[in-house]
Amino acid sequence: MEVVILADADEVGRVVAAAVEALIARRPHAVLGLATGSSPIPVYDELVRRHRCGAVSFARATAFCLDEYVGLPTGHPESYRTVIERVFTGRVDLPAESVHAPDGGAADLVGAAHSYDEAIATAGGVDLQLLGIGSDGHIGFNEPGSSLASRTRLKTLTARTREDNARFFGSVDEVPRHVLTQGVGTILEARHLVLVALGSGKADAVAAAVEGPVTAMCPASALQLHPHATVVVDETAATRLRLAPYYRETYASKPEWQGL
Ligand code: F6R
Repeated sequence: MEVVILADADEVGRVVAAAVEALIARRPHAVLGLATGSSPIPVYDELVRRHRCGAVSFARATAFCLDEYVGLPTGHPESYRTVIERVFTGRVDLPAESVHAPDGGAADLVGAAHSYDEAIATAGGVDLQLLGIGSDGHIGFNEPGSSLASRTRLKTLTARTREDNARFFGSVDEVPRHVLTQGVGTILEARHLVLVALGSGKADAVAAAVEGPVTAMCPASALQLHPHATVVVDETAATRLRLAPYYRETYASKPEWQGL
């Protein structure tokens, strides 16, 4: 696992966007895994800027969202399908029909979850999966206790995650209890995992994920099992990392051609 500690959210956005741009340059039909929430916003803003300058086109790319709330009406402003279009895919040339999200409105949620994993496999798997991390260590909406081999399925959000996400809804009572989320096992099949964490509120979760034991109690710790996982954090999210000096030294002396 590579840990990259950067000054602030803007630099995180630039470094991760450069990795996405390099992927698309190598592989214009790349499959992107997209996270919602606030952490990837600087990355999306930077990708939109680069797209507007003509540096990158997503016209041949495909995207799969990590997760979706269950039961929100189609077009609800906080449905992750709506959010990803608002913050990223609708601002670049990624065709709407190439953007996928689990169907949180399906009558058959088990079938919808299964079909989602199949659709990812049919697309050839995810090349680069962007991830945030919950303050409780979740990735996607795999809350503590999630099987590290899990597939896309229905999950119940913890009270803490619903409180964390209440800022998007107005009140905690409006945050759905249930979600469809890619499983930890599904996420681990992506060829490159890039986890972004910003702010002091993520410092404990980042330390547990990177330097703690691999455990279902911190689903993000499963990144330790992945052959190409990159954790990109700002200074405030890095404060609990014991090996921070080593991570800084490694990144500072990294050959530029290696990218992330
Ligand atoms: C969102 C997702 C979640 C978030 C996590 C952090 O698609 O999968 O795991 O990444 O809850 O959210 P923010 O970035 O809003 O702190």
